[in-house]
Amino acid sequence: MGKRFVLEEYLAHSTSNVMNGITIQQRCNDKGNEAIMTYVDHVIQGFRKDGFLYILLTVAPWCRFFPSVRNVYKNIQEGIAKGNALFDSLIDQREKELDTNRPNGFIDSFLVEHKKNSPSFEKKEQLRIFLKDLLAAGTETSSSTLRWILVYLIKEPKVQQKVHDEIDRVIGREGLARLDADVPYVRAVIQEAYRVQTLGPLGVPRQTTTDTTLFGYHIPKKHTNFKQLMACAQRSKTLAQPRKV
Ligand code: HEM
Repeated sequence: MGKRFVLEEYLAHSTSNVMNGITIQQRCNDKGNEAIMTYVDHVIQGFRKDGFLYILLTVAPWCRFFPSVRNVYKNIQEGIAKGNALFDSLIDQREKELDTNRPNGFIDSFLVEHKKNSPSFEKKEQLRIFLKDLLAAGTETSSSTLRWILVYLIKEPKVQQKVHDEIDRVIGREGLARLDADVPYVRAVIQEAYRVQTLGPLGVPRQTTTDTTLFGYHIPKKHTNFKQLMACAQRSKTLAQPRKV
């Protein structure tokens, strides 16, 4: 029998490193990157604990004056300020080392394009927003989805065996997974986990830019709206047991 361990941290750090590899070209668990690791943990915990409040504050920012929300709001603001400082320093560092003839990674490519096209937006702020968006949107979602998939696979050993068999047959123990790998069963398992455990059940808030009519419903201009993604994924009209994997 193996030793017990907490999987969450490994999943969160490894998924964030996929994103970090694309964006800042660093790994959060490398020596000297403690600030990145702290930020990743802060983002993950923030999503978990205060995800609902983020949405509430987007739609009704005045809620921040309620005593019970004030502290959370303060924490969110502090987290944002720390994140901004961290990403600003990472951008500065890459800008100093930038070789425009050989851009390496997302920040370099952005800086080169910005130089070429000189758009009107503020370079550092826009880049920082992209970096933070990608990390925040990609890390918690991916690691939580993986955790749920593992929970379902533990509960369903036969499915787990089939997943194993397909991976062994198509990719192999030493092989590298590719996006175009022919693994229909594995894909179906992932899709089913997405469906049952609809992460971000209301999606992200959107606002109409003009008066809009959708399926007969009138949505006025500048109206913030959400999608009921969970209602689509777990529709009892089309599925006999929508909450069951
Ligand atoms: C299992 C993993 C993921 C899940 C479950 C997930 C889920 C979602 C959901 C529900 C939305 C809202 C869609 C909407 O309301 O229109 C969204 C938006 C978004 N996701 Fe993901 N996501 C995942 C992975 C990622 C990754 C890896 C990235 C980055 C590479 C990413 C970047 C984004 C961005 C940038 C948006 C906002 C798009 C926009 O404003 O149009 N997501 N995601």
